[in-house]
Amino acid sequence: MHLTPEEKNLLSGKAGPAASKAMQILETLGRIYGAERMLPINSVQISGVSYANLGEAGLAWLSEMAEGGGQAQVLTTLNPAGMDVENYQALGIDETFAENQRRVLAAFEKMGVVTTCSCTPYLFGNLPRFGEHIAWAESSAVCYANAVLGARTNREGGPSALAASLTGCTPAYGYHLDENRQPTLHVQVKAELVTNPDFGALGKAIGDRLQTKNDNRVPMISGLHQASLENLKSLCASIATFGGVALFHIPGITPEADAYPPPSESLTLTTRDLDRVKADLTQVGQAEVDFVSLGCPHLSLREVQRIAQLLEGKRVTKEFWITTSRPVKGMADRMGYTALIEASGAKFATDTCCVVAPIQGRFRAMATDSAKACYYSAARNHFKTRLLPFDEVVKEALQ
Ligand code: F3S
Repeated sequence: MHLTPEEKNLLSGKAGPAASKAMQILETLGRIYGAERMLPINSVQISGVSYANLGEAGLAWLSEMAEGGGQAQVLTTLNPAGMDVENYQALGIDETFAENQRRVLAAFEKMGVVTTCSCTPYLFGNLPRFGEHIAWAESSAVCYANAVLGARTNREGGPSALAASLTGCTPAYGYHLDENRQPTLHVQVKAELVTNPDFGALGKAIGDRLQTKNDNRVPMISGLHQASLENLKSLCASIATFGGVALFHIPGITPEADAYPPPSESLTLTTRDLDRVKADLTQVGQAEVDFVSLGCPHLSLREVQRIAQLLEGKRVTKEFWITTSRPVKGMADRMGYTALIEASGAKFATDTCCVVAPIQGRFRAMATDSAKACYYSAARNHFKTRLLPFDEVVKEALQ
């Protein structure tokens, strides 16, 4: 693998031990995947931020990189943490966990990483342009960056994303190369999709049909006539979770689709297929739901505004988490949406989400509009789930 003199200097430790370790990680990855060179990048998103996932071993590694002089070379943002940094007591997070989570965030901050703690960095400033090479972790955001924005990233893990941040480069393989962005499977949709659960169900239905989660399939999805930003983030979260998909194309909707003809291998999905998937993700009736959550992936301002409209003058009867980024919450504060929502008894869970927060066993059954949140809440937190359209989820919190 060819390295420039600057990259060789980083590898040899001339810029300190953290940059050297980071370059070792990238060079090893590049050799494994057959990269010929590094690519300069402009943007990084790091996952694996919750102390619940990192533990002491992960925190020790981060601290070592921070103590070793690691400094972000490009705009670098963070995935959700295990708690709302300012409001964790109201969400039932204990002080010991909070202290450990603060140590994680302090290590990132020392390295110049922006501690935004959100899986939708593209909604508030970390917005790569078409064709730009980036290094993102967080499967839903990777899929959104590749498919919807037309940027180019592999599915990085936390360590390789941090390594890319500390060096400003990433190995040239996978979705950075034209040949790996071509569609390999034609998915013909014969159904009318409107809500986030419709799009989440489509992602799961495609994922369930793919042979394995790691064969880098690139679906071309035809038959869709409209999709909002919110629908697309639901689809990205779901198709990445259930199918390991990091890139898809939708003619008329995503920017690279028109560059390719539909592949010959095809499958058809109907309304019945999507209904079956929704039924799989709904194991409980209304009576059993004791936890309601919206914001997987993190809510847009438009979604927060809609929640405020639906909750105005009402009181929720269940624990209801509104999960979003701090910048979006800041805009909601300014517009008065936060006050309306909090007056209802619903809680903002900023910086975190119902999957990465340590709430295992706290609730029996959760209602949400997110197929991904249903999957992980069942698998990790042992909650039963109820998948509903966005407005219906809010109504569920009021029942
Ligand atoms: Fe984001 Fe948490 Fe869902 S990280 S995509 S809100 S599981």
